[in-house]
Amino acid sequence: MLIDKKPFHTIWTEPGKAAVWVIDQRKLPHQLSVIELKNPEDACSAIKDMIIRGAPLIGVTAAFGVYLATLNSNKDNYKAVLEKAINSLSKTRPTAVNLHWALGRMKEKLAPCPFEKLTRTALEEAEKIKQEDIVMCKRIGEHGLKLIEEISKKKKGEPVNILTHCNAGWLACVDWGTATSPIYQAHKKGIKLHVWIDETRPRNQGANLTAFELLNENVPHTLIADNTGGHLMQHGMVDMAIVGADRITSNGDAANKIGTYLKALAANDNKIPFYVAAPSSTIDWDLTDGLKQIPIEQRNEEEVKYVHGLNGKEIQKVLICPEKTPAANYGFDVTPARLITGIITERGIAETNSLRALFT
Ligand code: MRU
Repeated sequence: MLIDKKPFHTIWTEPGKAAVWVIDQRKLPHQLSVIELKNPEDACSAIKDMIIRGAPLIGVTAAFGVYLATLNSNKDNYKAVLEKAINSLSKTRPTAVNLHWALGRMKEKLAPCPFEKLTRTALEEAEKIKQEDIVMCKRIGEHGLKLIEEISKKKKGEPVNILTHCNAGWLACVDWGTATSPIYQAHKKGIKLHVWIDETRPRNQGANLTAFELLNENVPHTLIADNTGGHLMQHGMVDMAIVGADRITSNGDAANKIGTYLKALAANDNKIPFYVAAPSSTIDWDLTDGLKQIPIEQRNEEEVKYVHGLNGKEIQKVLICPEKTPAANYGFDVTPARLITGIITERGIAETNSLRALFT
């Protein structure tokens, strides 16, 4: 998608160069800066320190991290080097299952590979995972577009109001995004729509990233404080909600950025369709109970106590509570399947109880 009218991906390699480049998302929307990853430790830090984030991109970056590990190995130590890198990458963030999905793919591909072909095979597989993510996100958009079209017809062409939470846009993936893909495709088709963006405390991915994306694509949008969605729903100002996910269980429970559950409750109370958009790499087929089984990341209390913003030309960090006040920082919550109208995947849209059937 576009930044300043130029097409971008969130992660890329350059022919003949032994490195991987990513957009530093901690600086957006105020600065566009790019970071070079040279080894698996850099890839681990990129994920852990939120240089990159979003479930699909975490997976793709981990895959490239394994490729970077092969660059620093030799015939005698490559198996141990790979094992160490995969082990470290798998511990970077706990909730997004795409991380384990991508590492599993790399491990399987490289296990039978002789050392002479290791780096080339690792790069090819990581590029393949990247390309597949683009295709899956595009398809999610094609399926989700139909839902927006239907509402638009019912509203006789009046703008469709869509609420989204956090950033499940192209910055969370490689291109297109998950929740935003139907929005971009509807907008490109000329369907009138407007997006309500939850700011998404504590890290403000909605305010910083989703707003930046939609502005660059000229999609009409309005930023709202996190607690506003329920009020808008009660007053007929939201036609549908589309959010992303970090892990979906086989019965359709979905973990996503903290606060998603509250929006789903409000949508349910107001009979507003609530969709989760995610590629199959986000589905954890082994789990059947999201509340009990999905690991929820707990992050540093600093993220709750401080906010970052632009003060003139400088990005600054300010304290918003008494310094000694303790804070709790749960990164995700689980929306139970019963509150989800449908899951939009690359294969089509499934009600939560028929998710498995869609993939068999
Ligand atoms: O903590 P983050 O920024 O990695 O959380 C991101 C989200 O919760 C997204 O909604 C989710 O990963 C879906 S991304 C398409």
